[in-house]
Amino acid sequence: MSVGQNIPHDSSRGHVTGGSVFIDDRPMMAGEVLVLPVGVPAAAGRLKSIDYSQALKCRGVLAAFTAKDLSHNSWGTIVPEQPILVADKIGHYDEPAVLLVGTDMEDLLRAKKHVQFEIEKENGVFTIDEAIKLDRFIYKANAFKVGDADAAMAKAPHRLKGAFECGGQEHFYLESNACIAYPMEDGQIEVHASSQHPTETQHVVAEALGLSLHEVVCIVKRMGGGFGGKESQAAPFAAMAALVASKMKRPARLCLSKDDDMMMTGKRHPFKNYYEVGFDNDGRILSLKAHLYADGGAYADLSSSILDRAMFHVDGAYYLPAAHIEGAVVRTNLYSNTAFRGFGGPQGTMTIESIIEDMALHLKKDALAIRELNCYQKDHNNVTHYGQALGHNPLPELFADLKKSSDYDKRRQEIDAFNASSKTAVRGLSMTATKFGIAFTARFLNQGNASVNVHKDGTVQVSTGATEMGQGVNTKIQQVVAHAFGIPTHDVKVMATSTEKNHNTSPTAASSGSDINCAAALKAAVGIQKRLAWLFQNILAGTPMNDIAECPPLDESKLKFEEFQFENGLLTHKPSSKSMTWQEAIKQAYFNRLSLGEYAHFKTEGLGFDKKTSQGTPFKYFTNGVAVSEVQVDLFTGEYKVLRTDILMDLGRRINPGIDKGQVTGAFVQGMGWVTSEKLFHNKEGKLLSHSPTTYKIPNVQDTPRVFNVEFIENHENRENVHRSKAVGEPPFLLGISVWTALKDAANAKSKGLISTLKSPATPEEMLMEIARHE
Ligand code: MTE
Ligand code: HPA
Ligand code: MOS
Repeated sequence: MSVGQNIPHDSSRGHVTGGSVFIDDRPMMAGEVLVLPVGVPAAAGRLKSIDYSQALKCRGVLAAFTAKDLSHNSWGTIVPEQPILVADKIGHYDEPAVLLVGTDMEDLLRAKKHVQFEIEKENGVFTIDEAIKLDRFIYKANAFKVGDADAAMAKAPHRLKGAFECGGQEHFYLESNACIAYPMEDGQIEVHASSQHPTETQHVVAEALGLSLHEVVCIVKRMGGGFGGKESQAAPFAAMAALVASKMKRPARLCLSKDDDMMMTGKRHPFKNYYEVGFDNDGRILSLKAHLYADGGAYADLSSSILDRAMFHVDGAYYLPAAHIEGAVVRTNLYSNTAFRGFGGPQGTMTIESIIEDMALHLKKDALAIRELNCYQKDHNNVTHYGQALGHNPLPELFADLKKSSDYDKRRQEIDAFNASSKTAVRGLSMTATKFGIAFTARFLNQGNASVNVHKDGTVQVSTGATEMGQGVNTKIQQVVAHAFGIPTHDVKVMATSTEKNHNTSPTAASSGSDINCAAALKAAVGIQKRLAWLFQNILAGTPMNDIAECPPLDESKLKFEEFQFENGLLTHKPSSKSMTWQEAIKQAYFNRLSLGEYAHFKTEGLGFDKKTSQGTPFKYFTNGVAVSEVQVDLFTGEYKVLRTDILMDLGRRINPGIDKGQVTGAFVQGMGWVTSEKLFHNKEGKLLSHSPTTYKIPNVQDTPRVFNVEFIENHENRENVHRSKAVGEPPFLLGISVWTALKDAANAKSKGLISTLKSPATPEEMLMEIARHE
């Protein structure tokens, strides 16, 4: 019975004792070298030449490599257009161009200053508006259309028009991008990488070196956080390490410093979303027209999929009877923006949550009443703007339950009274929702494979394509397999992820890593269960098993699988109550030459979306939740505190309630960091200035809500996913938005009707300026 239990995370002990091995903890091998990538000192233009001769003369520098040394110098998950090392056209400031190699990092850092770049500089483009003006587009999406948005808009009693702007976000994983490449026999390469996507890392390494895919193995034991930042962008760094390893025939280690990682890699996409909303006197949305613009940065990366997900999530939790949604990704001269927890979903959903706060101010109503009015319902108003029916929809119940348990109405009155009397501070309160679509929107990615091997002592090793980045996927797989076999969780180990064991895997992303890989592992486990049940069925039937005869191979048509149960270390035939121990079953199976290993492939069924009409079923199901946050803002400094947050989520039947609670709290805090203090600063040349924790402010423990209640509803109706659980990784990130809307609500309390132009992040400066606008 391990599914549903709070088994500790499989690395919890290792993380606090230092026993967990990350890439840079791997012991140095004989002959191993260090690799330091050096970036260009310009954001746009042409790189004419690189002179590293002086650097090569510096103490401890063994070699230098550039784009010329690569067999193939372009990569990209969707559009292969990004150089691994800049060869000519510069995409962004600090884009890697040269690799310095030595055995001492101090030596390399000293030598770095002696690398000379000859650059024909051009003016860089750093804002969405500028890029639109210059027609610099990476991708234009097909529009989403439902109803007659223009006609409904024209007839609407109220209309509001505006632009919602949100900034980017640094992933701030604790382990920077890191990789060690080992040269193997016959030119083969083995890379150990901190990557969410070992298969893509394998592919990019192979292409860069001119190898076939079967000549490269990528192994991922774990990451010290990924958050989407290592979905695509781990691969080029692995290719750099592999280049050095293959040229020098020595192991090569490339572990980025925090500063280099922040300057060289992409972040969450900033968005600027122009919109017009039409609504009635009660606040019922009649029409939404929006044009979403994402800043893709220098290269395509995953931007088109991220924009798509933003467009899928622009409804938030609210029914749109008529809508016309367009979207585009612009190209700027910033680092190439990439996946980050939520993958565009937060930028889409935040737009409508912001719009609803404006509608509330305009109609002089409480924003929660407008949310309740527009919320997707159970039996009507429950089809999205892309035609997917919500199925079992817990949103109305989530809103109602949290309103009650958080004492919303009473606190609203208290806040109104506080705001009327206080001359030094203002408070705000806001409830927002997450309705996050679960599945990769590119259907082919919704597949995975797993192998389960039972050893002779009855213990089990499981390998899947999932990568562990702290989210607990290994622990969930361990629980699902132990549960299937009815054995203790400590008898199941989830092994390092390797492209040698699990091939053509998808990134661990889209919150689907646990769903897909638990399902694949379970399918493999069932294959073994069937053979063991067959064995026992034959033992009970008296089939001779001795030196001359053995158990026949499994015949599914004769197996009465449902009569057998695996529980408490026993394999039991339920009708006769006869049982044998798990260990005995394994021993007997081995001597009867029945396979104790199984490989399974799993694909998510029921997905299909027509890009031409923008209609269909892109998601398997939705993970839903609501949060209500209360803030207090100092009217003189703009500084604020989150006084209280209450969260209520539906995660179906959780496989591991403790891990899921950790995911919800962590995602919420990461989300509130994005909308409050995490602001990226660049200089006029487009160089990132906020490239360390001294200048980039992520939330710390004092910033988290003073009162923080996280609860879950019982949902026994969900039948969609493995053991009826729901994906958790990204959905609660969107609940951090409630802190921003609460800040907006606080600013609105000071407004005399003027609609807010609050941007995200609502830093204290931003809050102070917003409040000053109303004075
Ligand atoms: N939790 C931790 N601790 N560290 C991470 O890097 N990444 C998030 C989420 N939770 C992340 C995390 C992101 S972006 C995703 S998509 C999911 O975990 C991926 O894992 P899953 O699909 O197994 O939920
Ligand atoms: N989500 C997250 N990562 C992805 C997706 C997605 O929908 N598609 C490709 N990579
Ligand atoms: Mo998560 S952004 O899908 O890696």
